[in-house]
Amino acid sequence: MPAAYKIQEHQFDMVVVGAGGAGLRATFGLAQKGLRTACITKVFPTRSHTVAAQGGVAAALGNMGEDDWRYHFYDTVKGSDWLGDQDAIEYMCREAIPAIIELEHYGVPFSRTDDGRIYQRPFGGMTTRYGEGPPAQRTCAAADRTGHAILHTLYQQSLAHDAQFFIEYFALDLIMDASGACRGVLALDMAEGTLHLFRAQGTVLATGGYGRAYFSATSAHTSTGDGNGMALRAGLPLQDMEFVQFHPTGIYGAGCLITEGVRGEGGILRNANGERFMERYAPSVKDLAPRDMVSRAMTMEIREGRGVGQHQDHILLDLTHLGPEVIHEKLPGIAESARVFANVDVEKQPIPVIPTVHYNMGGIPTNYHGEVVQLRNGNPDEVVPGLFAIGEAACVSVHGANRLGSNSLLDLVVFGRAVANRCAEIVKPSGSQATLAPNACDEALARLDRLRNAKGGTSTATIRDRMQRTMQADAAVFRTGETLSEGTRKMRDIHASLADVKVTDRSLIWNTDLVETYELSNLLSQALATIVSAENRTESRGAHAREDYPDRDDTNWHKHTLCWVDEAGATRIDYRPVHMYTLTDAVSVVPPKKRVY
Ligand code: FUM
Repeated sequence: MPAAYKIQEHQFDMVVVGAGGAGLRATFGLAQKGLRTACITKVFPTRSHTVAAQGGVAAALGNMGEDDWRYHFYDTVKGSDWLGDQDAIEYMCREAIPAIIELEHYGVPFSRTDDGRIYQRPFGGMTTRYGEGPPAQRTCAAADRTGHAILHTLYQQSLAHDAQFFIEYFALDLIMDASGACRGVLALDMAEGTLHLFRAQGTVLATGGYGRAYFSATSAHTSTGDGNGMALRAGLPLQDMEFVQFHPTGIYGAGCLITEGVRGEGGILRNANGERFMERYAPSVKDLAPRDMVSRAMTMEIREGRGVGQHQDHILLDLTHLGPEVIHEKLPGIAESARVFANVDVEKQPIPVIPTVHYNMGGIPTNYHGEVVQLRNGNPDEVVPGLFAIGEAACVSVHGANRLGSNSLLDLVVFGRAVANRCAEIVKPSGSQATLAPNACDEALARLDRLRNAKGGTSTATIRDRMQRTMQADAAVFRTGETLSEGTRKMRDIHASLADVKVTDRSLIWNTDLVETYELSNLLSQALATIVSAENRTESRGAHAREDYPDRDDTNWHKHTLCWVDEAGATRIDYRPVHMYTLTDAVSVVPPKKRVY
């Protein structure tokens, strides 16, 4: 072990890595159950990316019309293009209702109906009567700042329940023992430059997605999927990484999100001819089709010469007809974003938009308790002892091949809560820690030492830029075997170029160069897993649209991809079956059929 590194040891029942919606819901839930809980986070909790979530959180409360959680279940299965695990989807849609009522009681300032109930707006792919009825008003909103409202409330609850926060600590690596169990995490206190080993009976990865593997994303620059990177280094696979969601309405050029709630409130997408083109692609739900379909339709319009602007390369989102009252009351945040980032007054002009990377359906495979699972000795659902994953870092899989808008905030709170409930059953308060080998941290320290002293010829920023441009060009809304194999070849080279990285700051105190290099290495392995998995899947399903294989192929591809990436960039692929069963008789399995809206 590199001798110079001293490690301060902490012992908790549970350690949560990440303080977004999922991490905070888990943190205070665990503390509430009497477990000594630490939350380590690289940014101040209320700066986590959940703060940027706008449109809302789905739950079939039925406050604004007919609804039923079983309709929500059906819509989510169909939205997932039948790749979602139906037991987990049942759990999420049923638990949505108590989880949102709890949030209301914790203090989330939801918008209200005239009679004082939580306001709910329509969102893409959310319908009634198993797809046969009118659109559901299911998405509970706090104007267009729902993530902000939820995140602040969850942080307040975490403080109220005496969870211990370690803020601006960057998680370096999981500490696994010889049996494959997780025993905690090694982290760097970025401000002090000190190393900390958090030993715990359970470690929860709530580290978010890896949108920053792409050049243009709605995600924060901190969305680097650090938990996924650590899981890969621990020898675990990531699941369904080929499924990357493009949100139809990122601001052209800037990439900032304009919520789907705009279309929920009546906003319309128009091409260069002023045509409401979604009527041709999804005649019944039009602009409120699921995101994969809307993003593809927009891309087709642009390709066929009906894009807007000098380069005919974007689309317009028109909300001028909504009127100032709706905009001020329901959409104040996006009015400001459009003014600042597109110089547009939304009451008078449409917003220039383009499909922009927004969400990763893939991640660390888990069951609906949030326990990480692995394929071992023929068992696809073997639990990895001591390791949990929730939120965008995880692949439960409730979103399958395509997530429905407003099911993400829901996933965060439902599975953050689920992990707390599960650990209350299996973790002993103030229980003893498993013994740890004296060299347990050596590999992580050697890696730290290597990166900190890297003297290559290529800057972190240069490698990151190559990765982001390659992913943007070659793993886009539409894919072909040709672009994917070229992209895979390039990504393998870019991944290998990390061996030549140059880190200029050798200190440990507030060394952003070092932290960005760690983030880059996490992004590189996820980017590689994404493009390799995409090249491998020779069908089109949900967000994975192969022009050379335009149809869904349930005979050969109704299965989850597992992808391992080692430190040298070697990849391996295997599969897990999709859970085609439910937890109870309250709902029946939805068998695959053609996905039309
Ligand atoms: O459009 C939005 O407000 C985003 C919501 C989501 O991704 O769930």
